[in-house]
Amino acid sequence: MAEEGLALQVEGLCRRYRLDGRDIEVFRGAEFAIEAGQTAAVVGASGAGKSTLLHLLGLLDRPSAGTVRYDGEIVLQRSEAVIEDFRNRQVGFVFQFHHLLPEFTALENVMMPAIIAGKSMTEARNNASTLLDQVGLSARMTHAPGELSGGEQQRVALARALVMEPRLLLADEPTGNLDPETGAKVLELLLELNEARGTTLIVATHNMSLADRLPSCLHIAGGLVRYRGEAA
Ligand SMILES: Nc1ncnc2c1ncn2[C@@H]1O[C@H](COP(=O)(O)OP(=O)(O)O)[C@@H](O)[C@H]1O
Ligand SMILES: [Mg+2]
Repeated sequence: MAEEGLALQVEGLCRRYRLDGRDIEVFRGAEFAIEAGQTAAVVGASGAGKSTLLHLLGLLDRPSAGTVRYDGEIVLQRSEAVIEDFRNRQVGFVFQFHHLLPEFTALENVMMPAIIAGKSMTEARNNASTLLDQVGLSARMTHAPGELSGGEQQRVALARALVMEPRLLLADEPTGNLDPETGAKVLELLLELNEARGTTLIVATHNMSLADRLPSCLHIAGGLVRYRGEAA
């Protein structure tokens, strides 16, 4: 079982892109805190910066200024190797498009992060099959992604994101590619699995009815991030 979730503290976060000699400022001085085990939506119009924020929080991208603390620590001040290890072990990602490897089975796709992290085949296989069972796909383990429906593929992606027992789970429009009914089921599953594990969960979505199902919300507009919700 995972330990409890990661606490996030964001201070003065800025991200600028230089494009055609012009600066695009996605964030200017975002400030917010997310408690360990908290669930929050990230909402905002297309292009507002939802994906950019998730990439920054997940250490897939670097801020132009400002800091993110994880349980109080500024991980970006550490070496590349430590940052990469932290990301692999503590952070899980679910994307809008599942990015499953088409030539591998569902089971192999879920095992992959554990194998890459150096776990034994036996441990990786055991963890992966337990997770596929939890997402309701025990009968689909040997199927290739192309043999699964969109909702099933996204459930495999969910299992894959959880196989390293991350303390922070970041989901970027995880239901954006699914019909509303299937999307609602995948979200329900995400929330259920997360609650059982105590993971910190951040879900970017432009779907307000989906965001309303989550207890707190980060609203991005005009380069600013406003926090609404339970704790902080
Ligand atoms: N690599 C990049 N280079 C330049 N601009 C980018 C890059 N990635 C994102 N942007 C810009 O940053 C802004 C936020 O993008 P994004 O985070 O993808 O928004 P969202 O996920 O809310 O739709 C957009 O204006 C987008 O064009
Ligand atoms: Mg996006």
